[in-house]
Amino acid sequence: MRVFSGIQPSGDLHIGNYLGAVKQWAATQSTDSLYCVVDLHALTLQIDPATLRTQTDDLLAALIAAGLDPSRCTLFVQSHVSYHAQLSWLLECVATYGELTRMTQFKEKAERQEGYRVGLLTYPVLMAADILLYQTDQVPVGDDQRQHLELARDLAERFNNRYGAIFTVPVGVQPPAAARVMDLQEPTRKMSKSVSSPLGTIYVLDPPEAIERKVKKAVTDTDGEMRFDWDHKPGLANLLEIYAGFSGERPDAVAARFSRYGDLKRELAELIITELAPIAERYRELRASGPELRGIANDGAEKARHLAGATYQRAAAAMGLS
Ligand code: AMP
Ligand code: TRP
Repeated sequence: MRVFSGIQPSGDLHIGNYLGAVKQWAATQSTDSLYCVVDLHALTLQIDPATLRTQTDDLLAALIAAGLDPSRCTLFVQSHVSYHAQLSWLLECVATYGELTRMTQFKEKAERQEGYRVGLLTYPVLMAADILLYQTDQVPVGDDQRQHLELARDLAERFNNRYGAIFTVPVGVQPPAAARVMDLQEPTRKMSKSVSSPLGTIYVLDPPEAIERKVKKAVTDTDGEMRFDWDHKPGLANLLEIYAGFSGERPDAVAARFSRYGDLKRELAELIITELAPIAERYRELRASGPELRGIANDGAEKARHLAGATYQRAAAAMGLS
């Protein structure tokens, strides 16, 4: 079964990315899985070129440290395989302006800035190209990518109806808990790489003291009643989901084991530190070995190029390109 997923090198990996995506990638990876650092997607917002380059390497190292094994799965950088941009153009001529302007993430990001880039609008088409190039069956992603994934499915079906059966229609896969990790200070807002919230975001590479402090200061509520309830107790529900994401339990089962918020927070911090500390350690070793990382990315791109090329040629030919 072919699995594909992607992640933007637009900032440091946080526990939302880890629980929503990367932890499932590592757990289910096989020789049929591809994971992509989507640097072309990062260009949709302002990013300094040197920063983008460094963050791409940082993220490759962080993904390996978090458990992706390049001798099993294929790990590569999107811009190294030119078919992504090429298929994206073909799919832009299948997608409609109306369906792109209806995307929630586009509306939210466009609202925050003047003169936003056209790439911000066409971003989900590039994401569809990423997925469809590899005849992907499953796409493990967090909850925020649901709508984009639906679009990828729609584009695949429309293309197949119009030009012949070229693409596999993919399905999205969400983790059983923590598919949407919220900001610890503002539990109605998604934990995010692009919005800086110093106390609200736990990074995978945070030192133990920082993790302890952030969990301790996480916003909860004043009634002190231990119950899993997103509507009325979002701060607590978020902590329970995060706990469940790390421990593999269900959030309501976690709630049943604790009576005091303080105890939950203390154990949660410990749980997070125990899982993340070895990742930080491996990251530091890997990051110090530049050439090895380049070699991994080059091998990954070569494998990906081979698969993507075959699909691209078929799609282009089906549309009448000669
Ligand atoms: P991004 O950082 O936007 O490239 O996201 C990479 C992956 O992490 C995608 O699968 C997202 O759905 C997932 N993700 C990002 N933020 C969160 C979050 N706050 N909670 C759960 N998953 C997330
Ligand atoms: N848009 C995704 C995000 O911001 C990243 C992404 C790009 C992706 N291409 C993808 C995820 C293909 C899954 C499959 O999180």
